[in-house]
Amino acid sequence: MSENLNDIVSKRRTFAIISHPDAGKTTLTEKLLLFGGAINQAGAVKARGENRRAHSDWMKVEQERGISVASSVMSFDYGGCAFNLLDTPGHEDFSEDTYRVLTAVDSAVMVIDCAKGIEAQTKKLFEVCRLRDIPIITFINKLDRDGQEPFALLEEIEQTLALDVTPAVWPIGMGRDFKGCFNLLTDSLNLFEKGEKGALPKEGAHIEGIDDEKLDALLPADQVSALREGVEMARGLCPAFDKQAYLEGSLTPVFFGSAVNNFGVRELLEALIAFAPAPKEQKTPERTVLPTEEKVSGFVFKIQANMDPKHRDRIAFMRLCSGHFKRGMKLTHLRTQKQVILHNPVMFLAQDRALAEEAFAGDIIGLPNHGGLRIGDVFSEGETLTFKGIPSFAPELLKKVRAQDPLKAKHLAKALDQIAEEGGASIFKPVHGFEWIVGVVGALQFEILADRIRTEFDIPVIFEPTSYYTARWVQGNKEQLQKFESANAVTLATDHDGDTVFLARNAWHLNKAREDYPDLRFLKVKE
Ligand code: G4P
Repeated sequence: MSENLNDIVSKRRTFAIISHPDAGKTTLTEKLLLFGGAINQAGAVKARGENRRAHSDWMKVEQERGISVASSVMSFDYGGCAFNLLDTPGHEDFSEDTYRVLTAVDSAVMVIDCAKGIEAQTKKLFEVCRLRDIPIITFINKLDRDGQEPFALLEEIEQTLALDVTPAVWPIGMGRDFKGCFNLLTDSLNLFEKGEKGALPKEGAHIEGIDDEKLDALLPADQVSALREGVEMARGLCPAFDKQAYLEGSLTPVFFGSAVNNFGVRELLEALIAFAPAPKEQKTPERTVLPTEEKVSGFVFKIQANMDPKHRDRIAFMRLCSGHFKRGMKLTHLRTQKQVILHNPVMFLAQDRALAEEAFAGDIIGLPNHGGLRIGDVFSEGETLTFKGIPSFAPELLKKVRAQDPLKAKHLAKALDQIAEEGGASIFKPVHGFEWIVGVVGALQFEILADRIRTEFDIPVIFEPTSYYTARWVQGNKEQLQKFESANAVTLATDHDGDTVFLARNAWHLNKAREDYPDLRFLKVKE
């Protein structure tokens, strides 16, 4: 292990923002890029608020799809660290994509609207982070508006998410009376000024502790006493910040701010530098892979059809897990055992992409391809490594699909194959019968799929209801499996990888199968 690699890896931070729509994820993303110097004006990343709402749900997703290659990964530098911010899709029908993105990050920032507290989508995404022990920094946003009291918010996080909380800063007032934050970690005071678009706030004034008399000169008397009381209570009631507990995912430091006004963003970045983990080691069934190993390895966690639908190329997003990657390198694509020379890997800047000349653990590089790469694929310098934990989820909605023109059935099979590789839907081929079954998590996905197959592959398709209620992967000992398969052939299918799937007609049917075959597992998630 070279000292150099150690150094480089320790300065990388790969993270995602999780939040409920409208909490301010897009705004905060922009501000992070602004501080990182990757963009120079707000509004550069994507359409926000009104712009987005003016469109239908469907168009919103369309629009997101268009820009999502550009904003899937945003890399920027700040304070001597190299940050990779991975975008998570906004619409909940695409939550599966988000789960996959979370397999590629080392930490997350949870954005909460101070008026709304923990909302449904925040909770759902938090649960995924918890499953993966992803450390979380909390950013409570919109303090320039009236919201819940700080203690109420802290208690809600603690109770709803069963997570210890430590305020890292303490807000002074709220809404019209919002004056700024007292930084409990550095004993500094950061006074609020309404942010000009693009203007960055000054660094906070240093204060000699909460009793410093300078405070009395800077703030109205009632707010100073409320602040002193708040800080004393916070220090008395909440556990002290414990980096280890944060890294293990059992404690979250909480920041308060106002993203739209650039307020609190610097503190958040400083916290990411000081506390957030550098790229982690990856456990595989073969061995533990260290990020500082010389040899390159990585896995594909997302595949995105290109922005230009007429252009059939796609980008596979690979997270590097180890080594010093250089453009033109020859790597082994382990699933096919083919050697591939990576001539044109791309890296992502705020709105642009550029050729990736080199990359390290924690970095995300895009591999342009014409198919053949799948989610979960691993690249290495020859060694067999299986990076686990990229899940497939049993779809909750199933429909039959057929081409309007029966002569195009074969083409349709190809299109479906490609979409399945991208993780855009689950595709099942019934053991008996000719029609494909398509499974998705959210209803909106059927519309998107029909549109994609029509525009990208020139095949108008029809989705029709099926008599199936749910799909489950079936695993277990060979003998039982064979018995089950011959007794249930009409409700069996194979998925994209050739694995057996049971298409149950209703909940009773599924339960009956479980009772009749106690040694088989009927899985909702396949890793
Ligand atoms: P999202 O990506 O999480 O869905 O949220 P987004 O950033 O788009 O923000 C949702 C709305 O909240 C936007 O308002 C945005 O301006 C506003 N917002 C974000 N941060 C703050 C903040 O710190 N304070 C206040 N007061 N508002 C904030 P919009 O009216 O929907 O859009 P826009 O016309 O302002 O862009």
